[in-house]
Amino acid sequence: MNTLNIVDTAKALVAEDKGLLAMDESTPTCNKRFAALGIPQNEETRRAYRELIVNTPGLGESISGAILFDETIRQRKKDGTTFVKALTDAGIIPGIKVDEGAKDLAGHPWEKITEGLDGLRQRLIEYYQMGARFAKWRAVIAIGNGIPSQACIKSNSHSLARYATLCQEAGLVPIVEPEVLMTGEHSLQQCFEVTENVLHSVFNQLYTQGVVLEGMILKPNMVLAGLNCPEQESLEKVADATVNCLLHSVPAAVPGIAFLSGGQAGELASSRLNAMNIRFKSSIPWALGFSFARAIQQPALEIWLGKETNVPKAQQALYHRAKCNQAARRGEYNDKLENHIQDNIGNKPQI
Ligand code: 13P
Repeated sequence: MNTLNIVDTAKALVAEDKGLLAMDESTPTCNKRFAALGIPQNEETRRAYRELIVNTPGLGESISGAILFDETIRQRKKDGTTFVKALTDAGIIPGIKVDEGAKDLAGHPWEKITEGLDGLRQRLIEYYQMGARFAKWRAVIAIGNGIPSQACIKSNSHSLARYATLCQEAGLVPIVEPEVLMTGEHSLQQCFEVTENVLHSVFNQLYTQGVVLEGMILKPNMVLAGLNCPEQESLEKVADATVNCLLHSVPAAVPGIAFLSGGQAGELASSRLNAMNIRFKSSIPWALGFSFARAIQQPALEIWLGKETNVPKAQQALYHRAKCNQAARRGEYNDKLENHIQDNIGNKPQI
C-alpha cells in the first residue's frame, strides 16, 4: 500500500476550503430525478447532464473532488474528452461510487445492508487505472420503531471497513459514508444517539481492520430531527449537536469530515455547515466540509430541464451553490452572498 499517496489525496480533498460534488447518482436514481422534471431518461441525457457539470467554468475553485458513477466514469464529452480528463484538467480529483446499493437485510424488516464487496478488489484496480483516486460506499441506517438493530449497525460497519481497506490497498482514498436517514418522526436527540452509536461501531471496525485513518474521509449525516418531527431545531442547536456527536466518536487522525445533504434544501444545508464552522472551526481537529449531491445540483437540474439552451444558466446555478458551500466552510456564508444574482457565468460573485 502506498500510504503517502492516499494521505496526500485525502489532504487535497479537504484543502483550501473546497468540498466534494457527489454526481454519482445510480441510473435508477438519476432517472427518478429526471422523471420528476419531465427530462427524458436515457443514457444520452444522463451523459449530457454530466457534461454540463464537468464543463462548468470555475467549478474547480470550490470543488476538490467529484464522485462519478460507473456509467459516468466511462463516458465522454461530445468532443471525445473523457469526463475523468475533463475533471482532472479542471483541477478536480475524480472519484467513484463503488457500492452496489442498499438491499433488504435478511431477517430484519425495514433495514438495509449495502452490497458490492464481491469482485471489489478487481473493480478498484480498474477504476484506479481509469484515473479515479478516491471512492465512496454508502450504508443506510433508518430510525424507527425498534430500529436500527445492532445487526444492521454491525453488518454495515463491517462492510464499510472491508471496503475501506480494499480501497487503501488499491491506492484510493475511501469515503466512508454511514448515513442515518432523515425520514421519520424522531427527535434531534434520538438522531444524536443513533449517529453516535453508528460512528462508534464504524470506527471500531475501521480500527480492527487496520484502516489508515489519515488516508480516509468520513461522510456522515448532520444530526437533525426527523423530517416529520414537529420540533425542528435552530441552526445553532443543529451545529452544536452535530459537532458534539462527532467529537464523541471521530478520531482526530481523520483529516476531514464531508457531510451528505440527505435531501436538505441547498440553502439550509449551507446555513447549517456555516453555523458549525462559525462556532467550532478554530477548535476542532478535522476539516468540516461537504460532499453534497442534491444540495449543490438541484437548482441547476431544475434550470437545465434537458435543454441545451439552458446550459449556461444551469452552470451558473451549480457554480453558485458550490461557492456558497465553500463560503460555509469558512463560516462566511450569508444572505447577501446567497442572493447575489449572477448575470452570466463570467460575472462571478466575489467571495
Ligand atoms: P445528497 O447530498 O443528495 O444526500 O447525496 C449525497 C450522497 O452522495 C449520497 O450518497
